[in-house]
Amino acid sequence: MGGLLFRVAEQNRATLVFHLDGVACSALEGDTVLTAVLAHQTRLRTSEFDGMPRAGFCMMGACQDCWIWLETGERIRACTTLVGAGMRLCSYAGAVA
Ligand code: FES
Repeated sequence: MGGLLFRVAEQNRATLVFHLDGVACSALEGDTVLTAVLAHQTRLRTSEFDGMPRAGFCMMGACQDCWIWLETGERIRACTTLVGAGMRLCSYAGAVA
């Protein structure tokens, strides 16, 4: 699956596995959730207002455009949250239990 972001440097960090919409994906330790997701696909989530794809905007915790959900239903800000091994993410709110 092609992502929006491509790694061009610093690829020697340890890898970890997280899940996005039930699919196992790899990331590098220290990646934000936003980086980890956008390395795999071109959108972070779909807007609940107009159905359009969203991929974050400011990348620094100010715009609130990068919300994504944990399978537990908790909403997290992807650009300021580090991805963790075993983290289970949902790209749309309807996917959570
Ligand atoms: S991208 Fe703006 S708050 Fe995360």
